Amino acid sequence: MTESTPGGLENLLSEDRRFPPSPEFTAQANAHADVYSWADADRPAFWAEQARDLLDWDTPFEEVLDWSGAPVARWFADGQLNAAYNAVDRHVEAGNGDRVALHFEGEGGDTRTITYADLKREVSKAANALTGLGVETGDRVAIYLPLVPEAVFTMLACARIGAPHSVVFGGFSAEALYSRIVDAEAKLVVTADGGYRRGAPSALKPAVDEALTKGEHPVEHVLVVKRTGQDVEWTDERDVWWSDVVDSASDEHTPVPLDAEHPLFILYTSGTTGKPKGIFHTTGGYLTQAAYTHRNVFDLKPETDVYWCTADIGWITGHTYVVYGPLINGATQVIYEGTPDTPHRGRWWEIVEKYKVSILYTAPTAIRTCMKWGEEIPSKFDLSSLRVLGSVGEPINPEAWMWYRRVIGGDKAPIVDTWWQTETGAIMISPLPGVTETKPGSAQVPLPGIAATVVDDDAKPVPDGAGGYLVLTEPWPSMLRGIWGDPERYADTYWSRFKGLYFAGDGAKKDDDGDIWLLGRVDDVMNVSGHRLSTTEIESALVSHPWVAEAAVVGANDETTGQAVVAFVILRGDAAGGSESADEVQTTLRNHVAKEIGPIAKPRQILVVAELPKTRSGKIMRRLLRDVAENRQVGDATTLADSSVMDLIAQGLSQPGAKQED
Ligand code: WTA
Repeated sequence: MTESTPGGLENLLSEDRRFPPSPEFTAQANAHADVYSWADADRPAFWAEQARDLLDWDTPFEEVLDWSGAPVARWFADGQLNAAYNAVDRHVEAGNGDRVALHFEGEGGDTRTITYADLKREVSKAANALTGLGVETGDRVAIYLPLVPEAVFTMLACARIGAPHSVVFGGFSAEALYSRIVDAEAKLVVTADGGYRRGAPSALKPAVDEALTKGEHPVEHVLVVKRTGQDVEWTDERDVWWSDVVDSASDEHTPVPLDAEHPLFILYTSGTTGKPKGIFHTTGGYLTQAAYTHRNVFDLKPETDVYWCTADIGWITGHTYVVYGPLINGATQVIYEGTPDTPHRGRWWEIVEKYKVSILYTAPTAIRTCMKWGEEIPSKFDLSSLRVLGSVGEPINPEAWMWYRRVIGGDKAPIVDTWWQTETGAIMISPLPGVTETKPGSAQVPLPGIAATVVDDDAKPVPDGAGGYLVLTEPWPSMLRGIWGDPERYADTYWSRFKGLYFAGDGAKKDDDGDIWLLGRVDDVMNVSGHRLSTTEIESALVSHPWVAEAAVVGANDETTGQAVVAFVILRGDAAGGSESADEVQTTLRNHVAKEIGPIAKPRQILVVAELPKTRSGKIMRRLLRDVAENRQVGDATTLADSSVMDLIAQGLSQPGAKQED
């Protein structure tokens, strides 16, 4: 029998660990349990109140939500405001100019401290310089920078004049940069000579130079920040140094009042097929939900907290939870240019200790990497300042969750597992610290004012204990307003699968308490002998074995069973001891999965590898592993952070012991 929805529910991991909030945390928490009922009773009214409370408006809005043009929503559309004014100027006007906005930590240990008053001057200068370079309200600006303060200044300068920014992650190739510049028709590119990566300067400007030779483009100027001092090629009529035009610009600038529905930014994200999609967000609704979620999900106290989100500004997490959310809320935050293991594997924990970071927001892949390195590394540092821990980007397996809680959070800091997407703009499903009793591995409940559920193939909500597809059933303020230049693709991708529902592309289940568990992208859900299995679930089972540091599971085509489970695992240096043979590892881990989930989930094959193929944002590229598992030529690996990984895996496969079990 073939089930029609993902999530082989008879095989779910059972999770009965519970962590209620401590009374001390609850007593001081920003969020209260009663908010759900009133928010859900009248969602637009709830969001209107947040918009009025959390933001300053040049023209107050009367209209709250206009959904008559569905699936394109308009929120607070007759109001006007400016994002940069809200993120910067008003904090200075309120007497908080001396508060640190950014503690910048360079990879090599160079630092800069930027107060809100400094930020106002820097952003104003940059806004004047952009205007001087011919950028007008409505023009698009591409930003291709490392995580240095100028990246934040530039984004806010764009927002200040109403020029939507399109940040392109500094690790993307010239080709990727070119296609994004052209799609957004960017007039200006802001870049740097280079940045520091694993202890050495790494050039950026050459990729811009190369991108601009690839064909027609609308770029008039390239504004170049000097970060590393390395030699750069120069095109006189086009290139300008930041120090020449920004440093000398006036530090007085009046922010432009903009309609709430004025586009704030475009951010490209990969779809399952085809060219990257330019997801665009507008101003009023996006900022409202960014600020609300940042304040409540992280329990932010702007006067006392030191917040650190480890994401790069090239991703949505960096937009919403490095730039807009924290700065709108007047937070003090850390930004760090480098990698977690440069110059040593304790670098992140050293930063937490140094700045007394109290709120940390990172990704499961980073947590699992730290697990792999061993807990003696973080335990050398004083992490006692941490009081809230966040996770984002992929399902966090219960063992990583427990490790994060115990080793990093000292068994006391609540963990918020936050589900959202580039498209949703801000967090949608997450516990609220101080309110929610947490469960390792589950993102649990839609936030107040958010309506999400799990449906089957016929768009019917599944009962508790069952699985299906995650959908959002009501419009939310920070929802994408579309795909840049392609309204049809927007409607097709998100709104055609289930009429009137936003299809997130994630498999999910509801447990017996009605809490939501994310099971990975629907395309990562396997069907083995008519039973649907989640890659995430099997990965979780594997990682719960003491030998396993990290696991990736794919469904490989199989003549008999439809798909078969193939697992790639990285063993823990300290646990496996190296004495077990490959056969022993296979047998033990297969039996372990059978024990944790059921014999149906037993991987057909378990391959021990040294690394897993990951994109630069840390997502495992299962597509490539599927190619390996199906004995195909490995497909396009150009978006891998480290392109040699696939060669290593292929070599490993030719070693004895990496054989297929019957
Ligand atoms: C996945 C990142 C499980 C999910 C903010 C989603 C998660 C995709 C979680 C969006 C989570 C994100 N638990 N899965 N807490 N957070 N995802 O656009 O598959 O880079 O659809 O946005 O990441 O990735 P994106």
